Amino acid sequence: MARWTVVTMPGDGIGKTVLPEAIRVLDAVGFDAEYVHADIGWDCWINEGNALPQRTIDLLKQHKLGLFGAITSKPKKAADAELRPELRGKGFSYFSPIVGMRQIFNLDTCIRPCRSFPGNPLNFIRKKPDGGFEEPVVDAVIFRQNTEGLYAGVEWSDPPAELRAALSTHPKFKAFKDVPGPDLTLGLRIITRDAARRIALAAFQYARKHGYSSVTICEKPNVLRETSGMMEDEARRVQADFPDIRLYSTNIDAQMMWLTKDPENYGVIVASNLFGDIISDAFAGLVGGLGFACSGNIGDEVAVFEPTHGSAPKYAELDPPIVNPIAMILSAAMLLDHVGEEEKAKRVRAAVAAVVRSGEVRTYDMLRLRGGPDVFSKGAASTSEMTDAIIAQLR
Ligand code: NAI
Ligand code: MG
Repeated sequence: MARWTVVTMPGDGIGKTVLPEAIRVLDAVGFDAEYVHADIGWDCWINEGNALPQRTIDLLKQHKLGLFGAITSKPKKAADAELRPELRGKGFSYFSPIVGMRQIFNLDTCIRPCRSFPGNPLNFIRKKPDGGFEEPVVDAVIFRQNTEGLYAGVEWSDPPAELRAALSTHPKFKAFKDVPGPDLTLGLRIITRDAARRIALAAFQYARKHGYSSVTICEKPNVLRETSGMMEDEARRVQADFPDIRLYSTNIDAQMMWLTKDPENYGVIVASNLFGDIISDAFAGLVGGLGFACSGNIGDEVAVFEPTHGSAPKYAELDPPIVNPIAMILSAAMLLDHVGEEEKAKRVRAAVAAVVRSGEVRTYDMLRLRGGPDVFSKGAASTSEMTDAIIAQLR
């Protein structure tokens, strides 16, 4: 029997392409695991009215370790129109299975490392004042609170009267009290102390373990006084137990400017859900974009690892596939770290680094090509050729 069992959820589109590539790499590095398939995504929605079936939840509950590809999601009207006719009008409404998974298992810590691999032609470069260019080393790890904030899903169109009445007790709501119901939408930014503390603690623990000298809390407490205020308060409280690690505080808007000016100044960054999503995408853009952006969703019991990218439907049907498997492979390396197989994780990352550095094998995105079946004639490697090159480096 294998030592580990991993629940694999390829999902839709290129999720189905890249997930098996990551398993090839895990096998090649000698990870002692077996893999159990679980359904998730658009087909489940269309046929069952639920993109995250109970059987998938049960498998995750049982095995506690998941690798996820990507899913397709569509706006409400399109989702309703694609539901099987016999399921329509029965009260099914689409909900993102990723968000669902995060909430069901309280996967409240999202880690998104954004590190540049030397030799990646997509790395951020900057003009030097005296001419020429330089390529700052980017080594940022974003800790995003994964279950609350503006993504908690507590939203209304035409909010009910009792809610409006309650909101009218807030002095700042006066300005909106006469807006007609159909013209009013509301969303709630929920931050709880416990979750704010947990994400800050995870960030500090990571910083200590990996030798970062500081943690940056990135919020907007001067405007979002209550919610961002609590995020900052808790980060400060946690810092008291880490006297060796400094706490810096930045505002989300200024942070977005600074990170393209001096990205090398940032290491571990912690933020609430929406801000963390934005910051991590911005940093990912500096180190190669979606083909390189990996992530882990971690709770007390269950952890699920996934590339940041989606299902890229326009490339899903191409044969052979063209998309970059590195984001998925780096996500699998995070899974190795998580289960204590850090040596194997290091070997996977070193193999990716060697392939990127040599520059002989590059997928279309690394050559800045438009995706399509013609990329091979322009020198691009296929998805599996990229994986083969990484595996060759492991041997
Ligand atoms: P996307 O991430 O699927 O693709 C955007 C573009 O990025 C692609 O067209 C492609 O040019 C590039 N790209 C993505 N992954 C790549 C890879 N591995 N290698 C090379 N290039 C890559 O985002 P999009 O097009 O906005 O959304 C498509 C579908 O995916 C939607 O239904 C959306 O809801 C869903 N989605 C799912 C996510 C998830 O499963 N975690 C995250 C983001 C979007
Ligand atoms: Mg995103």
